[in-house]
Amino acid sequence: MQLSDIDLLDRDKFTSGPPHDWFTWLRANAPVYKHAEPHGDGFWVITKYDDVVAVNRNAKTFSSDQRRGGVVGLDDLPPGTGPQGADAFNDPDAPPSLMLTMDPPDHTRYRKIVNKGFTPRMINALEIQIRETTRRIIDDAVAKGQVDYVIDVAAELPLQVIADLIGVPQEDRHNLFTWSNQMIAGGDDPEYIVPDDQLGGAYIGMFTYSQALAEKRRAEPQDDIVTTLLNAEVDGHSLTDTDFNMFFLLLAVAGNETTRNALSHGMNAFLEHPDQYDALVKDPSLVNSATEEVLRWASPVMYFRRNATEDIELHGQQIKQGDKVSIWYASANRDEDHFEDPFRFDITRTPNEHIAFGGGGPHFCLGASLARMEIRVLLEEMSARAPKIKALGPPDRLRSNFIGGIKHLPVEMGS
Ligand code: HEM
Repeated sequence: MQLSDIDLLDRDKFTSGPPHDWFTWLRANAPVYKHAEPHGDGFWVITKYDDVVAVNRNAKTFSSDQRRGGVVGLDDLPPGTGPQGADAFNDPDAPPSLMLTMDPPDHTRYRKIVNKGFTPRMINALEIQIRETTRRIIDDAVAKGQVDYVIDVAAELPLQVIADLIGVPQEDRHNLFTWSNQMIAGGDDPEYIVPDDQLGGAYIGMFTYSQALAEKRRAEPQDDIVTTLLNAEVDGHSLTDTDFNMFFLLLAVAGNETTRNALSHGMNAFLEHPDQYDALVKDPSLVNSATEEVLRWASPVMYFRRNATEDIELHGQQIKQGDKVSIWYASANRDEDHFEDPFRFDITRTPNEHIAFGGGGPHFCLGASLARMEIRVLLEEMSARAPKIKALGPPDRLRSNFIGGIKHLPVEMGS
């Protein structure tokens, strides 16, 4: 293999899984590599665990602020198609309003407020409901026998959990599924592709929901995350309506796609390594290490982008101010210098310091405990209620170089 074989912008390559052959080669031969792009000056590709963590933690040099078009991906979005698509966000010089694309100190202020909705108390309180939901979903799947695991199980659980969390009536939750699919992969995967004007519709649909919800909770406060967020005040700051709408959008998208794909990849890994599923069924106490291994294996967010704010040397390469930098979690989680035998799916792996939720720093995944809980509860209930699983066909993967996704996975589930 040589460098010229590698094209991380070729989405088709990702339809047969993350290009681990490329990442392995890059880690060994060009761990900090300037990748070409058709329109632009290229972008840095960081593939080693330690380098990804270093960039992730250095928010001052590696900024998340993408006010000139991009969201968190490598491509700058055409004007008017991102979350900035609503008129108020269309000014390229306006400060970012999505937490993921803010830098400290704005980010710190915002994060302190939303943290109040994600305390251990708030999250732990959800477990009973999550378990009930999980049992219902699995029992329905077992009753059907043959299912599309992604549609019937993996998409349903986070969707129902997020809908409960943010107060979307369950009968409307599939709108969330459609909108978030369109926002995340609308440009890349033919199954979800939408014209730019309809993509705007997805944002409007979502904002209309969140606006109505905020009004309802302001009129009738409840003991829930939405009410907590609306009332939270830190250093004299609280969330404006726009802040709340953007946060709602972030939760709906970030909480859905990622968890769905972690669950789908987990199932696929168990189908490919049946001894590991048998081990879990026999010894449910392995569930915590199994959860972490599923996350490492899946790495649903394959990379995030930063922009260099100053010149800096990394691994002997000179990154210049203004350069785009991509940090590849999917590669770092298979780094042979960090994980023993990284291509072995091993639910007993300890330690397992994967960075599926980010490599630390200010943007560390806000929903990590919730996602861990969903995966753990699903594995517990699956191994108890559906100890027999069989693949009925290969996984149909998302055409995206950003989200490592599975769209369909035909499976037989039995008790
Ligand atoms: C397996 C599931 C999940 C994975 C793999 C995942 C992954 C990530 C990653 C890689 C980041 C960026 C970290 C960084 O830049 O340092 C992130 C941020 C974020 N995640 Fe998650 N996530 C998952 C589930 C969730 C859930 C369930 C929620 C909410 C309910 C959520 C909400 C967020 C938010 C709000 C941020 C932005 C935090 C900030 O900018 O400060 N995520 N996630």
